[in-house]
Amino acid sequence: MQQKLQLPIYLDNNATTPVDPGVLQAMLPYFTQHFGNAASRNHSFGWIAEEAVIIAREQIASLLGATAEEVIFTSGATEAVNLAIKGVYETYSSKGKHIITCVTEHKAVLDTCRHLERSGASVTYLPVDRHGIIDLNALEQSIQKDTILIAVMFANNETGVIQPVETIGRIAKEKAVLFFSDATQAVGKIPMNVEKNGIDLLCLSAHKIYGPKGAGALYVRRKDPRVRLTAQIDGGGHEKGMRSGTLNVPGIVALGKACALCEQRMDEETIRLSMLRNKLEAGLTAIEEVNINGGNVLRLPNVTNLSFSGIKSNRLLTEISKTIAVSSGSACTSANPEASHVLKAMDVRDTLARNSIRFGLGRFTTEEEIAYTISTVTQIVASLRK
Ligand SMILES: Cc1ncc(COP(=O)(O)O)c(C=O)c1O
Repeated sequence: MQQKLQLPIYLDNNATTPVDPGVLQAMLPYFTQHFGNAASRNHSFGWIAEEAVIIAREQIASLLGATAEEVIFTSGATEAVNLAIKGVYETYSSKGKHIITCVTEHKAVLDTCRHLERSGASVTYLPVDRHGIIDLNALEQSIQKDTILIAVMFANNETGVIQPVETIGRIAKEKAVLFFSDATQAVGKIPMNVEKNGIDLLCLSAHKIYGPKGAGALYVRRKDPRVRLTAQIDGGGHEKGMRSGTLNVPGIVALGKACALCEQRMDEETIRLSMLRNKLEAGLTAIEEVNINGGNVLRLPNVTNLSFSGIKSNRLLTEISKTIAVSSGSACTSANPEASHVLKAMDVRDTLARNSIRFGLGRFTTEEEIAYTISTVTQIVASLRK
């Protein structure tokens, strides 16, 4: 059945996603009927909440190929990134103070590394090639005796480019360095397995996978090796002492359900979203001088980053956003007129990097919306170039 097109169209699913009705339904009873504190051991209100948290841990672990005990709940990916990087640094800094990361990481990772540099860490920021992929030789060469952590994202939030995570994991293992991957954009979109990928720490966020804002998790390996972290939030000793604070039970239930839905639907959604994304790319690259950033390597199925030569993204965005919600890059930096650090690192010319728009498709994106986007953007580009 054809759905009537509703405006505005939402194509900014890498910034955040709407909550799936199934996720909302799962979490609602935990606000009212089952409002107990999951740490309350003396009554059924607590037991019911605790049981729901146990199920959510299992759902998340299943999506990652981890075990339930390895899932630590946080308020989102930013907090999980901070816990992973600062937590490793504070625990292992007697062994070494060197961290390796990559220039195209999200600000959550880059700013956390900068913070640690101010307290004595030395950080190597690996460059990327023009496709946005890190140089594996440079990675190997930059590992030193005092390297304690490699932090490289699974997939980029601006371009969707997927890093060679399995190889990075293997290199990290060979050199006995811990490997943290920010998988905020990749979780639920592409298959992942922390064993196969050799990952020791990995973060995710509910609001990127059709769950609510304010819930996330950090996977922390418990075996081969057992990773130890210094807590960044002290208190009642929740989450094995790694993250104190009363658990956000509705958010956690929602995160678990969101992961379960992603796991169930991944194959079908990958086919549908890559078909729609390819259609969008074919339609928009039919316009003269439109380039796909990161288009020649493995990418997430739902995102495309396009440079429209000769038109500043601000002007393009002003016009497009009358009916279509897109962005020029990450939401956290959307108020910043600077060219994207990700595109600059990929050697996209500064002018072109300022002409780039990210289109992020999602579970609720329809064919009609893609057709509308192609024709609207084509018209806008033609009139702005006149
Ligand atoms: C790659 C990446 N890492 C971290 C984050 C931060 O996630 P959160 O909003 O859950 O703090 C984002 C969100 O934009 C992201 O895309």
